[in-house]
Amino acid sequence: MSSAEGKTLYQRLGGYDVIAGVIDDFLMRLRSDPRFARFAGGRALDTQQRARQLIVDQIAALAGGPCVYIGRDMKTSHAGLGITEAEWQANRQHTAAALDKFGVAPREKEEFLAIFEKYKDDIVEKA
Ligand code: HEM
Repeated sequence: MSSAEGKTLYQRLGGYDVIAGVIDDFLMRLRSDPRFARFAGGRALDTQQRARQLIVDQIAALAGGPCVYIGRDMKTSHAGLGITEAEWQANRQHTAAALDKFGVAPREKEEFLAIFEKYKDDIVEKA
C-alpha cells in the first residue's frame, strides 16, 4: 500500500509504535463499552494479549510494514460470534476515535479504516 510519494501507510502512520498504540487505545475503548461486554468474559489475560498482538501484526503487515500475520483468517476467527451490523458500526467509531487521539491525518485514517472495512463481509454475521 504505497502512496504517490512512495511511502507505505505503515511509514506514513509513524511505524509500529503508532499502530500498536492505536490498537491498544481502540481495545481499551471496546473494553469500557457495555455494547461489547458479551465478548469480554472468561478470557485469560494471555488470550487477550494474543488477540491484541495478532491484530497489531495484521494491521502492520497490511499497511506495508515488516511484520507477518500468523493468525487465523478473519472468517474463521469470528464465525459463530454473531457479530451484528450495529456492533460493526460501533467498532468502527472506536477505531476512528483511537486514530483521532493519535493525531492520524485524514488520508491515513481513511486508509486504516479501509483495511478493517475490507473484512466486513467475513466478520459480520447478522444485520
Ligand atoms: C465488531 C467487530 C469485531 C468484534 C466484536 C471482534 C471480536 C473478536 C473476538 C471475540 C475474537 C476472539 C475469537 C476467539 O478466538 O474466540 C476476535 C479475534 C480476532 N479479531 Fe476480531 N472482532 C471484530 C472485528 C475485527 C476486525 C475489524 C479485525 C481486523 C481486521 C479483527 C481482527 C481479529 C484478529 C486478528 C483476531 C485473532 C485471530 C486469531 O486468534 O487467530 N477483528 N475478534
